[in-house]
Amino acid sequence: MSAVDCKKILETLTLEEKVGQLVQLGGEFFLEDLKSVETGPSEKIGLSDSFNRYNLGSVINVLDSKEIKEIQKVYLENSRHKIPLLFMADIIHGYQTIFPIPLGQAASFNFELIEKAAEVSARESYYGGQHVTFTPMVDLSRDARWGRISESPGEDPYVNSRFSEAVVRGLQGNEDSIGKEKIAATVKHYVGYGSVESGREYNAVEMSESTLRQFHLPAFKAAVDANVRLVMTAFHTLNGVPATGSKWINNDILRKELGFDGVLISDHSAVKELSYYGYAKDDAEAAKIAMEATVDIDMKTAVYANELVTLVKSEQLDVELLDDAVLRVLELKKDLGLFDNPYRGLSYEADINYEEHLEIALELAEESVVMLKNNNVLPIDKNKKIAIIGPNANNKFLLGMWAITGDASKYETLFEAFQREYGNDRVITSQGANLVDNVKNYGFPEKLAKLISAKDETLAEQDLIEEALRCAQDADVIVLSLGENMLDTGEGGSKVDIELSQKQRELVKTLSTLNKPMVAVINSGRPNVLSELEQDFDAILYAWYGGHKMSEALVNIISGKTNPSGKLPVSLPRHVGQLPLYYNNYSSARPSLKGEKKRFTSRYIDVDNDPLYSFGYGLSYTQFEYSNLKISPKDKSWDITYEVTNTGDREGYEVSQLYIHVPVSKIVRPVLELKGIQKTLIKPGEVFKGSFELTLDDINFYDNANSKIETQGSVEVFVGSSSNELNLESVIEL
Ligand code: GLC
Repeated sequence: MSAVDCKKILETLTLEEKVGQLVQLGGEFFLEDLKSVETGPSEKIGLSDSFNRYNLGSVINVLDSKEIKEIQKVYLENSRHKIPLLFMADIIHGYQTIFPIPLGQAASFNFELIEKAAEVSARESYYGGQHVTFTPMVDLSRDARWGRISESPGEDPYVNSRFSEAVVRGLQGNEDSIGKEKIAATVKHYVGYGSVESGREYNAVEMSESTLRQFHLPAFKAAVDANVRLVMTAFHTLNGVPATGSKWINNDILRKELGFDGVLISDHSAVKELSYYGYAKDDAEAAKIAMEATVDIDMKTAVYANELVTLVKSEQLDVELLDDAVLRVLELKKDLGLFDNPYRGLSYEADINYEEHLEIALELAEESVVMLKNNNVLPIDKNKKIAIIGPNANNKFLLGMWAITGDASKYETLFEAFQREYGNDRVITSQGANLVDNVKNYGFPEKLAKLISAKDETLAEQDLIEEALRCAQDADVIVLSLGENMLDTGEGGSKVDIELSQKQRELVKTLSTLNKPMVAVINSGRPNVLSELEQDFDAILYAWYGGHKMSEALVNIISGKTNPSGKLPVSLPRHVGQLPLYYNNYSSARPSLKGEKKRFTSRYIDVDNDPLYSFGYGLSYTQFEYSNLKISPKDKSWDITYEVTNTGDREGYEVSQLYIHVPVSKIVRPVLELKGIQKTLIKPGEVFKGSFELTLDDINFYDNANSKIETQGSVEVFVGSSSNELNLESVIEL
């Protein structure tokens, strides 16, 4: 750990230099033709000429290590105080090696593997000269209209929490200093952003304190308990107060209750947007509000840079607040070892074992694939002739909207993977349809669009379906490669229509007239509505955007080399009108029971209440049987043991899930609450003896006054393979 004394450094700084440490800008302020990435509004930010860029504290999304080195060098040559710059970037699910999107990673329910993937991202970024990454994003997401559901671990607080701590540990390691091959993590977007009204980006959020504490906060607490070094604020208003300016969530909950003493960084332009909301009358008030909410770094606006010096000099802002913020930034730089070596990690000759990294990417991609249906058409024998048909069959732009450092040219398409695995003579391909129904202007900033190889769809001229029919004529099996354009999700990717495109639906209906087995592979960043097509599919593999090794993972599963084990981290809706949709919904006094059509019950007249496919659901090539549930009380906790037998003929992973339901409570409880996950590889015939520990704290539930209600009476306990397959049940009496 560096011997630097940050308090002493702070004492040497002028007021202007202190303010500079709290400002984050793009690299373009140092290098003209920089390949920096514009990830938000790119209008001029109005930085006053008096601001000395050689006082700046940090730089965002400079993704070329040579440019990082050059900027740091130029900066240190011109800076009076010689405090090194921090370099931060959106390394969301991989740097050079791209992993599945977070929603896909969560589908693996393998948090050790997720941690290993984060370690790989940290290692690659470390040698790339990065210091901080803006991940994990843990916004609990229940609304598939929201494009950023793709970046989240899904709809459950337990899964989000395990994901959150795994990624923080993988990125930072377990020491206070952030050492070799590690970078600082930023948990985001604090807090509740996934519940934007109508699933529309940058919209308002209204939620009770109980919902905030029971569903949205746990993953942030898990990150803070794992010593996450940064937290990023969010764009939305929470119950009428902008999250970035909220003393309640930032000072009272994050800092005081959760004990977070790291750096709170605003989201892109969110400090400036306090005045756009009208919550601040001008930039000066926005700066004051944000500082008093302990926001340490102002990302990509000139508000702190232009306003803080005057606010302090005119005693409108307590200089102690400024000093506290600067100290947190200096401590982060110290723990990263920047004072000892401003170029920490940055290396062009690092001996990185990319093969090993790609192996981990393959493993995680395989475990992220969820097999939703299989009417005995999978696996496909090597002697079959296969037609791979669909807009994603030969599409290389499937790494995901935030894979801004991923090289799309290194992505093997699904067709290429089939050629490799089955042989050129056995596979044939055809696009069959466009990915989108009409050319869309995704409105992407030029630099970002170019970087993630994003392209507005160009529509094929001729009708592709005729060609697809010819292509499928001699095939034994059709593999449909369908989904969304990767820009249909991610930031700014909210949609009201979450079915596959009309042309893709026509393609499926037309090909189904051939009466050949059809396997659907879905590449998407959200749970799409498949209701119209589900009956036409003999098998469904939900593969999300699975990163560089997705196609190999899919072909390994389709050929039978690998047994699928993914489970849904989000409910798959029957209709967009059901949204927000989630398994752990509160019970109704008039529940509508499956198959019942009673008028005066909580139901829709036109669609069943339940999802098309449920949270926690996913098939395997083998079968598992559950037995012997036993509950042994201990002091304030219970040991819950169960057995799972692999009754099939091949080994496979099973994700056993522990749920509870509290039928009587002084705050109405969800119909089901996940409290434990155990993923285990079980051999044919093997009886696995599993166990969970359930604590009183797991069972109690927050009310709306920041206290956990003591649960009395019965607690129903379930162990099963999905939220809609609760194989074993028992009761605990409190
Ligand atoms: C964006 C996103 C945030 C990202 C940041 C920096 O607007 O909301 O997730 O980390 O800006 O690019």
